[in-house]
Amino acid sequence: MTTRRKNPSELRSQQWFSAPGSAGAHKDRRIKQAGFLAEDYKDKPVIAILSTWSDFNTCHAHFPQRIEEVKRGIWQAGGFPAVVPVQSVSESFSRPTSMMYRNFLAMEVEEAIRSHPVDGAVLLGGCDKTTPGLIMGAASAGVPSIFVPAGAMLRGHWRGHTLGTGTSTWIAEADYRAGKLSETEWRDFGQASVRSTGTCNTMGTASTMTSLVDVLGLCLPGASSIPAVDSEHARMASAAGRRIVDMVWEDLKPSDIVTRASLINAVIADMALSGSTNSLIHLIAMARRLGLDLSVDDFAAASETVPVICNLMPAGQYLMEDFHFAGGLRALLSVIKDHLDTGVMTCTGHTLGEEIADVKVWNDDVIRPLDNPIYASGALVVLKGSLAPRGGILKRSAATPELLSHTGPAVVFKNYSDLKARIDDPDLEVTADSMLVLQDAGPIGAPGMPEWGMLPIPKKLLAQGVRDMVRISDARMSGTSFGTCILHVCPESRAGGPLGLVRNGDLIRLDTDARTLDLLVDDAELARRRAAWVVPAPHYTRGYGELFSAHVTQADEGCDFDFLAKQGVTVDPEVH
Ligand code: FES
Repeated sequence: MTTRRKNPSELRSQQWFSAPGSAGAHKDRRIKQAGFLAEDYKDKPVIAILSTWSDFNTCHAHFPQRIEEVKRGIWQAGGFPAVVPVQSVSESFSRPTSMMYRNFLAMEVEEAIRSHPVDGAVLLGGCDKTTPGLIMGAASAGVPSIFVPAGAMLRGHWRGHTLGTGTSTWIAEADYRAGKLSETEWRDFGQASVRSTGTCNTMGTASTMTSLVDVLGLCLPGASSIPAVDSEHARMASAAGRRIVDMVWEDLKPSDIVTRASLINAVIADMALSGSTNSLIHLIAMARRLGLDLSVDDFAAASETVPVICNLMPAGQYLMEDFHFAGGLRALLSVIKDHLDTGVMTCTGHTLGEEIADVKVWNDDVIRPLDNPIYASGALVVLKGSLAPRGGILKRSAATPELLSHTGPAVVFKNYSDLKARIDDPDLEVTADSMLVLQDAGPIGAPGMPEWGMLPIPKKLLAQGVRDMVRISDARMSGTSFGTCILHVCPESRAGGPLGLVRNGDLIRLDTDARTLDLLVDDAELARRRAAWVVPAPHYTRGYGELFSAHVTQADEGCDFDFLAKQGVTVDPEVH
């Protein structure tokens, strides 16, 4: 690709450092306070390294070292690095849910870039919400940006078994709750499952989102599968530092890379990966930041045509390390290339087609050929009907086939506290045929749409050997989870959706082949219930919580804030 290169005078940062009079002299003086010389930063691209490191984000514990490697690359290429910490949004420690802070991170990223002398950004993230939060913010800020994915942690080992983060835990937890594992064994298991820093090593939300950002061309091609502690990861970080400097000179911004075509490529890859259901929300939010159209119907359409060929937990059996050494994302894309628009641009300045031209699959049980898929099609199904007028989703590849067509009586929990209080009650009237319904767990309701969608199986059914049931909620589900869980039911119950009107004993019909989810209650009765329905009291009447509740959009719109998802005018600040 031949591109015009910027002149140093066109660099945004130099408006700060070269401003006439006291404004420029002040910035010049203050950067020298940190020991730099004019030749370090004058007429050079200033690159913000936006780091989601904190001691609470244990998936990012290697970031302080990676920051040094990114800096090395930036210096080598003739740029000036500046580290800017942003909220780390730890999936493991953030309460009430990390999802509540994705938009907070996105706002912080956008404003951190806009308010500082920044020409380009390196985005260090990977733990679930950090990836979309960083990309959403950088997209809105509109400066050249490159993503450095954290990489997955090493695989766990316990009693001769390989452990995948999340997926193996859910299986062991069922045994623990059924009394088959002691407290000590359960703790030992947990310790064995977290061998190193890095993100969850299954095809959960973290690996799904870093893979999809790779498909979008926003990180160095293939970077998403490099294990966090591999020396290749350090080399990738410094290479990203070198590349961002050139991206600034080329003025290659997210809006030049991400198009409707590349988003559809990401959706198609998502289906081949059997990616996390959370990807729907995050990809739609990312698209909207760039004014691009993407909807759940795009996922539904892709799901009908693209087979699952990635044999990773939770849908399959392997882990991210295996995926990397089988060829990684580029190898997977080469297998499905006929489904992709390979003419789209990547951050390297080359097309996707050029980037996957010579790659090979090195283990065709991990990355399957098209004629030997894990699942022929329909990894993800969008269901609509009287219970989900704007849709609900089901990860069919992680569900029990016998439950995909099922009608049963509802067992309703009015919120998560109610669920925790009663799910293991020996007197709970529930059978394996029941439909477990969780209300008030959506974006506004929970708040923050937590990953409560894999409702626990009642203890008394666990003891009978039941391991899956149809579960329905307006919550999300961890990408590492599995089961016949219908998620993201939209509109959510707190926004007046019919999910909030379901009562114990109501019949619900799931027909996956017909893509329907219906509440079998007549309209007159539903109208009576709606008239009597009272909105629960708000969780917040001040602060970020109130802002979040007032402006978060529904799942089918990406759960972004309404005032951020739109295009509009934002002035670049004047330097003074
Ligand atoms: Fe950080 Fe899973 S907890 S990626």
